[in-house]
Amino acid sequence: MIREILINPDKKLRRISQAVDLTTLGTAKMKKLICDMKETMLVKDGLGLAAPQIDVPLRIITINTKDGVIVFINPEIIQKSIGKESEEEGCLSVPGIYAKVKRSKKILLKVCLEDGESAEIEAKGLMARVFQHEIDHLDGVLFIDKQLKKLCMILEKNKRIKVVYFGSAEFSLPILKALVQNFSVLACVTEQDKPAQRGNKVSATPVKLFANEQALLCLQPEKVKNNSDLFNRLKSLKADVFVVAAYGKILPAEILNMPRLACLNVHPSLLPYYRGASPIQTALLNGDVETGVSIIVMDEGMDSGDVLWQEKVLLDKSENYNFLSERLSLLAAEILVKNLPNYISGLINPQKQDDSAVSFCQKIEKQDGRVNWQDSAEEIYNQLRAYSDWPGLYTLFKGQKLDIIKAEVVFEDLEEPVGKIIKKDGRVVVVCGKGLLALNVLKLAGRKEVKIVDFLNGQRDFVGTVLE
Ligand code: CO
Repeated sequence: MIREILINPDKKLRRISQAVDLTTLGTAKMKKLICDMKETMLVKDGLGLAAPQIDVPLRIITINTKDGVIVFINPEIIQKSIGKESEEEGCLSVPGIYAKVKRSKKILLKVCLEDGESAEIEAKGLMARVFQHEIDHLDGVLFIDKQLKKLCMILEKNKRIKVVYFGSAEFSLPILKALVQNFSVLACVTEQDKPAQRGNKVSATPVKLFANEQALLCLQPEKVKNNSDLFNRLKSLKADVFVVAAYGKILPAEILNMPRLACLNVHPSLLPYYRGASPIQTALLNGDVETGVSIIVMDEGMDSGDVLWQEKVLLDKSENYNFLSERLSLLAAEILVKNLPNYISGLINPQKQDDSAVSFCQKIEKQDGRVNWQDSAEEIYNQLRAYSDWPGLYTLFKGQKLDIIKAEVVFEDLEEPVGKIIKKDGRVVVVCGKGLLALNVLKLAGRKEVKIVDFLNGQRDFVGTVLE
């Protein structure tokens, strides 16, 4: 009978196997086990197989030698050559991964054979390698634990990685596209269609539009808590991982625990900094010189899960939200494509977040876009960068909303009241708490965006006004 082989990561592969009691060798149960091991190894095309790989924690290995399949019981290495060599290895329990592993060229073993006879065996080259690999299994060691010289991934095997994707925002789209290109995305889950800002049309999320284009299953549940229809649907997909990026709803434990491995979240900050709803905006608002993206294993807390990968980007203070959001999304996509197979194969150790360094960011409200002219010009400029997508930066002029679309900082202080609009060196500037903000493009409520020169033509009393 062919037995199922345990696939890494699986704690059972990490057990230390017990020595076989030699008096049990003739029993029907033992004979069947040995027979099954041989059959399983041959069918799966392995060079060797260790009993713990089929969930039997006993010190038995089978090896496919040029003299046929041989069973070795309680094998023990009693001598190893100092000389080592590196050759490529694979393992039935670590599918899709091949790597060069350094092993002793020659070994001397003490073993017991199937009939109960003990023997001493010398093995060289490939056979020495296979013995060392299989005996490692008996001690809960996998070849990927060794210092690997070169790790070669077999890319087409990536297509066997099954993903369900949760996302709703613009930020979600580049990540989904990359996942679809490289893995098997079984379904997308996205927010429901919403009334568009203007008129009575409805608008679908970018994820839904892309899913439709690709004929991907797209689910839009109204709620994700206590939704047994949704749970059954997702469970039936038998995904390896769920990947979540700006989905918009908090996932309940039932969903977090559903995939074979984990629910992963893409968070656009260097966690533990900026847990919460607006990490990109907050990094810009604070004028940070670096930020990044983290991919974490979700838990029930807010962005508190263990970190799998993190990558930094440097900021030069010219980026606005739309630009940075896209950049981080593309970076997250790249990280996932490169590293997800390693995670699936159990090669990544999740790292705890440093609880002493946690910081949070808030949900953005519409009034966060209003300028306080007491702030420094630099702070106001950062506010413009942070809120470029929504809610924008605005002030009030004659009781009307005036959007500031483009502006620049002028590092100069004038003896003038804060909020006053002044013409200076051919530019129109507003006096701030510190420094000046030069206005370049504006938009008055209900009108079109215009350059400052054109704006002045329509609003002759603009210069000289003091903004609140
Ligand atoms: Co193996």
